[in-house]
Amino acid sequence: MFHEIKITVVGTGYVGLVSGACFSELGYDVICVDKDEEKINKLKSVEIPIYEAGLKDLVHSNFVIHKRLKFTTDLQAAVASCNVIFIAVNTPTRLEDGRVDLTYVENAAKEIAGLLNEYKLIVMKSTVSVGTGRHLKSIIKKINPNARFDMVSNPEFLREGSAVADFMSPDRIVIGTETPAAKSIMDGIYQIFSDRNVPILHTDLESSELIKYAANCFLATKIAFVNEIANFCEKTGADIEKVAEGMGLDKRIGANYLLPGPGFGGSCFPKDTLGLVSAARDAGVPLDIVEAVVASNDKRKEQMVDKVIQACGKTVLQRKITVLGLAFKSNTDDIRDSSALTIVKGLQENGAELCVYDPKAMPNAKAVLFNVKWASNVIEALQGSEIVVIVTEWEEFKNLDFPSFGISTVVDFRNLYDPEDMLAMGVHYISVGRKTPNTQNSIKEVSRIKDNSLLIETQI
Ligand code: UGA
Repeated sequence: MFHEIKITVVGTGYVGLVSGACFSELGYDVICVDKDEEKINKLKSVEIPIYEAGLKDLVHSNFVIHKRLKFTTDLQAAVASCNVIFIAVNTPTRLEDGRVDLTYVENAAKEIAGLLNEYKLIVMKSTVSVGTGRHLKSIIKKINPNARFDMVSNPEFLREGSAVADFMSPDRIVIGTETPAAKSIMDGIYQIFSDRNVPILHTDLESSELIKYAANCFLATKIAFVNEIANFCEKTGADIEKVAEGMGLDKRIGANYLLPGPGFGGSCFPKDTLGLVSAARDAGVPLDIVEAVVASNDKRKEQMVDKVIQACGKTVLQRKITVLGLAFKSNTDDIRDSSALTIVKGLQENGAELCVYDPKAMPNAKAVLFNVKWASNVIEALQGSEIVVIVTEWEEFKNLDFPSFGISTVVDFRNLYDPEDMLAMGVHYISVGRKTPNTQNSIKEVSRIKDNSLLIETQI
């Protein structure tokens, strides 16, 4: 249909910037548009606003060297010189009612409407509630009755921290269209992936929009489920790692997303579970399971505060606690809905003195956490604390010699350490869903052994 595909991506957030950079890497001419002039200027200097592995190299290669990637604030010029427009603007949660806030998406559609002078494809990459594609289509037609365009839904499934790799090696590509022309243009854009046998699933607009929500909510359900089973393990002496392994070996269940932790966070699962719950309620079909997942995950974050308090002998008043990890998971600087925020604030409310450290997320955290000591590296973070709480599974937190820093208690929400090793080191170690060896007794044992006189007594 088009002689050559020329892409404009509206919005340079996670999805927009990664998609734009990756499409240019695939060989397309791409213009990334954003209203934020400062951000665009930084991008033009290859300053990447987020921490994401491989993204800087991709932008450098395609913007500086190959010149296939451009950045601008000029939507009009960008639309004029492309034939496919991807909308990838933010769709946050509306604070007052948990519904998806479509303001940015609607504004983008309205602005694009006035600029459509010839047939173009408008592709929704933002996560939007079911029916949004149709809704935007009617907005555009109202503003510009002569506009020639097709609306497409093409949700993105990339994860923060591995966004570039996920975009370049997707499990599947979902395309919701209404016309053969739109379908065939989209097939052309993703030809390189179908050549590599990546499944391309064609649907209508609504099914495509719902696939994104259903997938995220299902993964969130798996996590909430495994977290609750981990709680049960702690009471029964079962080991969550074995339980999850045993479940995951069943191909019908699958091994992924069965890692217990401090509760899911980030910009997607919390937002999308709430978004689907409110949309389904509006439609008169409450989703009881997803509602329970939201409640279970909120509760879990609070439970983690209590878990630390219990580990510290039921009070953290004036205790020196170091929290390792503020990002909602490793390999990202994103702190949105991170369990670490609930944990830090909860411990502060209970009178603890907090020191925090994260390899990448500290600049973001400084805007929302106060009255904490900001350590500049992990060593500094451990010095002078008695208790360590691990919230994010960064590589650099995996091999720490806690006793050499005088750390007596470690609460590990990511199960990074072996409980037996910690026991042998004399550390009171609490993890998630695993047996806590009889630490109190064992600590006494270790101090007996360390104490010479008692050792002699034992030998006698
Ligand atoms: C998620 C989805 O995985 C992506 O497919 C989707 O494209 C993206 O949302 C989105 O909608 O944009 P993301 O939020 O980047 O990706 O992060 P995940 O890696 O899925 O992790 C989400 C949360 O679940 C994190 O807090 C993580 O620590 C937690 N998690 C994940 C667990 O607690 N256990 C697990 O086994 C897996």
